[in-house]
Amino acid sequence: MTGTASVLLGTQWGDEGKGKITDGYGGDYDAIVRFNGGANAGHTLIVGDKRYVTHMLPSGIIRQGQINIVGPGAVCDLEMIRDELKIAETMGATVLLDRSAPIVLPIHKLIDRGREKISGAQAIGTTARGIGPSYEDFWARRCLRLGDLTSKKRIEEHLRDREYYIEKMALATHLGQYDDIASLPQTAEWLMQFSEMIRPLLVDSRAYVLKLLKQGKDILFEGAQGILLDTIFGAQPFTTSSVCTPAGISSTFGIYNFAKVIGVTKAYTTRVGAGPFPTEQDNEVGEQLRREGSEFGATTGRPRRCGWLDLVALKYACRVGNITELTMTKLDILSEFSEIKVCTDYLFEGTSVQPHETLTGRVMREAEPYYTTLAGWEKDISHLQRIEGLPTEARDFLTYVSDFVGRPITHVGVGPERRQLL
Ligand code: IMP
Repeated sequence: MTGTASVLLGTQWGDEGKGKITDGYGGDYDAIVRFNGGANAGHTLIVGDKRYVTHMLPSGIIRQGQINIVGPGAVCDLEMIRDELKIAETMGATVLLDRSAPIVLPIHKLIDRGREKISGAQAIGTTARGIGPSYEDFWARRCLRLGDLTSKKRIEEHLRDREYYIEKMALATHLGQYDDIASLPQTAEWLMQFSEMIRPLLVDSRAYVLKLLKQGKDILFEGAQGILLDTIFGAQPFTTSSVCTPAGISSTFGIYNFAKVIGVTKAYTTRVGAGPFPTEQDNEVGEQLRREGSEFGATTGRPRRCGWLDLVALKYACRVGNITELTMTKLDILSEFSEIKVCTDYLFEGTSVQPHETLTGRVMREAEPYYTTLAGWEKDISHLQRIEGLPTEARDFLTYVSDFVGRPITHVGVGPERRQLL
């Protein structure tokens, strides 16, 4: 008997409400795995009158008995892991961390911050969690890994190896961060405080996942960020530094076949940080979406930029992310609008963007969105329990989106709570 591997991914620029959806599906899976990103993610989970925000560990940490795994391609923020382990412990969930997972050092955060500062108006608007600088070290084959947290001597040797830490200090100094730089011994000391907590949780997560699959268990890989933030398919430099498509799982776990690849999209679009956003509404519509949808970042608290649903970008994300079905969140936020727009084409250099075209930074920057207007429903839908109970206009909206992108919409979110998923 073999179990299945499924994937849940954001199809926009992150913040699609993946946490709530993983949580909603959570009971169907034996283990939830984080495979990319780090503490830049922010998953808000609401259970009853309690609100939890997770950044680093899988959303399953709030479910009793759930196995939560962090894979070898996720960059680990040790302080965040410590905080979230407390939640997991209270909830009775299990956490396992891959021995090879890279560690985010305090100096990576300084470099991230320093680069943003000197970039001024050109800044990316990163989450300042050290993601880019730690992935640089990962790909440069010099990162410190969770399995290195065995002795101070071993850590110091690693930091000294080929002038690793000296180079980092020089860079952080160059970027104006000299006041906060920890020395090499201080960094080793800082790392050692997590050793006792981390070591009992270390596993070879690739072997562990394969074993679970062989035992007939079902696994859900939970993506952080969203496909439009993917380093390869997104509009650099306004992307994150990890692979946000299922390729991120294939490249770190060696798993290539997935039972389902569930894409999560909001009923409209949001983005935090800088970068092109063709359907952004820097006007009353955007304000209303932000207000009604409480669109403020779960990680940084920044107000999110808001706009209409971009079906050109969604179709692209479904293609490059090999999405097999969609879940739409926050449909209830559109209940206030008498008319709803969706972007159904971009004009780029005077012509329509072809469905197979790559949405590079230049296309995204210069695209002129073309909208189709659909009827709103102007009724409260947050109490509904079945998709069939939605007003006709809301069902027509779902059908339109599904037909356009060629994927079924299997679930719809009508409010922040676990029970508000139809
Ligand atoms: P970084 O991942 O912190 O380097 O940030 C790079 C870009 O990705 C910035 O525009 C961030 O705002 C964005 N970003 C990173 N993680 C998330 C997320 O989980 N949700 C939304 N945006 C994110």
